[in-house]
Amino acid sequence: MDLEAEFERTVAAGQRVEPRDWMPDGYRKTLIRQIAQHAHSEIIGMQPEGNWISRAPSLRRKAILLAKVQDEAGHGLYLYAATETLGADRGDLTEKLVSGRQKYSSIFNYPTLSYADVGVIGWLVDGAAICNQVPLCRTSYGPYARAMIRICKEESFHQRQGYELLMTMMGGTDAQRAMVQESVDRFWWPSLMMFGPPDAESANTERSMAWRIKRNTNDELRQKFVDMTVPQAEKLGVTLPDPALKWNPERGHHDFGQPDWDEFWQVVGGNGPANKQRVEHRRRAHEDGEWVRAAAEAHAAKRAVREDV
Ligand code: 3HC
Repeated sequence: MDLEAEFERTVAAGQRVEPRDWMPDGYRKTLIRQIAQHAHSEIIGMQPEGNWISRAPSLRRKAILLAKVQDEAGHGLYLYAATETLGADRGDLTEKLVSGRQKYSSIFNYPTLSYADVGVIGWLVDGAAICNQVPLCRTSYGPYARAMIRICKEESFHQRQGYELLMTMMGGTDAQRAMVQESVDRFWWPSLMMFGPPDAESANTERSMAWRIKRNTNDELRQKFVDMTVPQAEKLGVTLPDPALKWNPERGHHDFGQPDWDEFWQVVGGNGPANKQRVEHRRRAHEDGEWVRAAAEAHAAKRAVREDV
């Protein structure tokens, strides 16, 4: 049987490619690149919010934030496990992350300067993640699609808890309302950058769409996110910092301005406000965890010997 033809037929039919199936090297490489960087994003994404766990204003807020940060660790675990089904090595991927040879989402290179950021990250960043990740539940690679189904359910909780936190603050004092607006002003444009560069500058979209790894283009999902978020902002009582933002009845979508793509490429290139801090923290945590990995390997080796006797 012609393996390539079988692969093409599976993808064209919207069926799933499984680890044991033949796949082109380029498909495998693209998947490892995207899934690894997605996993890195989840793990690095624990840092900005983790910063506020010990500063949360109540036990309830602390418990919610703890649960959310733990979820992100679990998302990273599912996704690294998905890369391992493609033959990747988790230690090698971590080495590529801390040495800057692999990326993670630009959004996590912005500092969390006020407590309102915890709500805005839930509302905007996890909201953008949902827009970007729900279509990935239908990605052509089986393990990735199945990981996304569980992750998206948890992302919905993340987005809702953020929005509820902001609703509470917006019902509070003028100072709390001002804190929320200031946070929205800082995170709006970086949230739009999460969807990647404009389609015309996207090196990977065409190929990823043909392989049904990506199911929508960057600009399509960015538009979907803007259309979803504008009414939520109105309900919340905040303004979005884009003078070009307005409903276009002919298009049936909101027109909006363009993010600062120079800033985007600077942040992606490692020169954002918190890149060095985030990568250094991840490198240190990985090194500090070496003894745990060594102990687990020693324990597994002993157990293997015991089971052989
Ligand atoms: N941050 C960092 N790098 C980015 C980026 C971003 N926001 N957007 C694009 N890039 C990089 C790409 O990785 C690519 O570089 P590479 O070839 O070295 O990997 C380059 O910029 C060109 O971008 P493309 O559009 O050609 O790349 P992709 O086709 O891979 O599209 C993507 C980028 C839309 C992020 C896509 O990879 C994707 O959908 N990934 C899966 C979802 C994901 O990773 N989301 C990140 C956030 S995770 C998260 O939000 C956690 C939640 O709990 C908050």
